[in-house]
Amino acid sequence: MIGKANGAISITGVGAYAPARVLTNDDLSEMMDTSDEWIVERTGIRERRIAGDEQALSDLALPAAREALEQAGVPGPEVDLIIVATVTPDMVFPSAGAILADELGAGEAGAYDLSAGCTGFMYAIAQAYGMLAAGLAHRALVVGGDVLSRILDWSDRGTAVLFGDGAGAVVLQRVSEGGFLGFELGADGSGGPQLFLPAGGSRAPASAETVAEHKHFVQMNGREVFKFATRVLVSSAQKVLAECGRSVDDVDVYIPHQANVRIMDHAAEKLGIPREKMVVNVDRYGNTSSGSIPLALADAQADGRLQDGALVLMTGMGAGLTWGSGLIEWTENGRKT
Ligand code: ACO
Repeated sequence: MIGKANGAISITGVGAYAPARVLTNDDLSEMMDTSDEWIVERTGIRERRIAGDEQALSDLALPAAREALEQAGVPGPEVDLIIVATVTPDMVFPSAGAILADELGAGEAGAYDLSAGCTGFMYAIAQAYGMLAAGLAHRALVVGGDVLSRILDWSDRGTAVLFGDGAGAVVLQRVSEGGFLGFELGADGSGGPQLFLPAGGSRAPASAETVAEHKHFVQMNGREVFKFATRVLVSSAQKVLAECGRSVDDVDVYIPHQANVRIMDHAAEKLGIPREKMVVNVDRYGNTSSGSIPLALADAQADGRLQDGALVLMTGMGAGLTWGSGLIEWTENGRKT
């Protein structure tokens, strides 16, 4: 799916939350056969955050959402759409979106979860954009977040070292100028088995066997996902830029999914985007799945990189296999209509 957005809808608030507990590479090397040197060299990750035993996804989403709403100046009860992009909701149902709507007092909001692996946040903002553009909603809250530590096999060093927990949130509203310029989203289900969680759905419901065979944890073919990721980060970004009539030279801030710094560096180099324009926080958070892009947006805002009028390119990729890009001309709150 690809399309030009006709602007006038933008992100008016950003928030993020990462749990307090830090798990370093050295901590991991005491739990499994790995080392800080191996993890840093292959992934660029130095530490990640791990949710407390009592924290579920909605507990990470709530502080991020409150921060984003406060920045946008939108009280919870005025939100009319909530989309939570996640593969680790509190439970299968009710949705984390419905739980969050209740906590925010958003009694009039349509609220639900969206599953597109690590690309979830890009899918969700495209969907919220569409709802606003169609006039079905006016003040949307989009959350991307995951508690991947709960679905990792901590005896598998090939996956356990890569991921962390965190959530980010944005508010979408109409603005007088600037805002979203376009989106490109895609999925290749034939690549699904390269990154999947085999049991717990209707194909293989939970049983003593699925538990004994570790089928409730993430399974990944790292090398194949690496090849896929390097390919789609480049192709998706190129497609959305071309669709919107922009070039890589126009990009002021580049936010790729924070999976692995080697993948990100490769994409920036192939695209011809200088590294200093790329936001990198994978060293501190690991791969937070749907949380990755909004956490990076919050970091970029805190660093003063999201200036009014800046062209921001975001590209996600992940399970599905899926990918998605969005291009936005950043707008300050003052330009809200
Ligand atoms: N510590 C030490 N050694 C390890 C570890 C570890 N944590 N993990 C694997 N190894 C070993 C392997 O066993 C292998 O040993 P061998 O040569 O004796 O067999 C060796 O290191 C090399 O293994 P490779 O898998 O070839 O290592 P590679 O350089 O490909 O790096 C990695 C592995 C980091 C997983 C890489 O393939 C990668 O980043 N893939 C993409 C993963 C990703 O981004 N997934 C998420 C994207 S989508 C989403 O966000 C959900």
